[in-house]
Amino acid sequence: MDSSKTQRGIYFDEKVYNLINLLKENSDGMSGESIAQKIGVTRAYVSKMIKNLKNLGYKFEIRKKYKLLESPDIPLPWEVGKNVIFFESVDSTQLKCQELLKKGKIGNGQWVLAITQSQGRGRLGRRWESPPGNFYGSVLLKIDIPLKEITKIPLLGGLSVFRTLKLYSLKYDIKLKWPNDVWVITDKPKKISGCIAELYGELDRTDFVILGVGVNVKNSPLQDISISLTDISEQSVSLIDFTQKLLKTFEYIWMEFNMGEGWGKIRAEIENNMWRGRVKVSKGHSEFVGTAVGIGKDGSLIVQREDASYEEVYYGDVFIWT
Ligand code: BTN
Repeated sequence: MDSSKTQRGIYFDEKVYNLINLLKENSDGMSGESIAQKIGVTRAYVSKMIKNLKNLGYKFEIRKKYKLLESPDIPLPWEVGKNVIFFESVDSTQLKCQELLKKGKIGNGQWVLAITQSQGRGRLGRRWESPPGNFYGSVLLKIDIPLKEITKIPLLGGLSVFRTLKLYSLKYDIKLKWPNDVWVITDKPKKISGCIAELYGELDRTDFVILGVGVNVKNSPLQDISISLTDISEQSVSLIDFTQKLLKTFEYIWMEFNMGEGWGKIRAEIENNMWRGRVKVSKGHSEFVGTAVGIGKDGSLIVQREDASYEEVYYGDVFIWT
């Protein structure tokens, strides 16, 4: 793909989608003429699409027929979903999503996905290491909830990752950790994913939330404290397959959330699958150790302190304390 296109982002293209699927279905290959007829374009256009796909990493045998030999394991929109805008490399999918929103080039429910990020953003101003092979995505969400309940949004992201990981056969148990992470319970628990929710609106109005999700699918950048799906899965893992599953799962959870009893059920599921052991809560300069016991109605974390009193945590950092 020419570089101007990857900088502007690659959107879903019905013709490319049809071409790829035709070649996947016809593994012996197809002539340019018959592809052109089937998808309603000229032979020259077929050859142009093939050239662009080669630049993205697709491998073809081109003799009398076009034969697809290999597809790259990257989350291109025609591989993972129509609501995806794909970039090879960005500073941060959060920033890119914001930029596209300002330009009116992204709509509610659309995802910005990238292979790598040079300035991946973690919570509380931290950096999110972003080597290729992992999932980096930000979704634009139009919201209508009180500001105090905004903590629910990263919880929905965390639950989506949790449900998606559970679709694989895993060697270890996994737990949700408030407000957004999924942790793998090895001898020394390790983080596999994180979410961040950033508000976007004018002065006192919050119109949109940009929810960013990072999942270590094939790489764990911080060996000591992080782990990847590849490390814990019984099967080999493809980023395309993971992305398809995660996007569908999130779409479903978002629909559940916006229905009558939605949050109540989601909250119960989070409580059943969260880390309920000891935690250290750090809020700016103050910190305390306690036991995570539940999720509040508004999305806060309920912690029982060592003096048996309860505290609702709305912000700050929570560490698993073993
Ligand atoms: C955390 O600190 O746990 C949150 C990490 C969130 C990282 C994701 S990766 C995709 C999106 N783009 C970013 O810059 N950050 C989020």
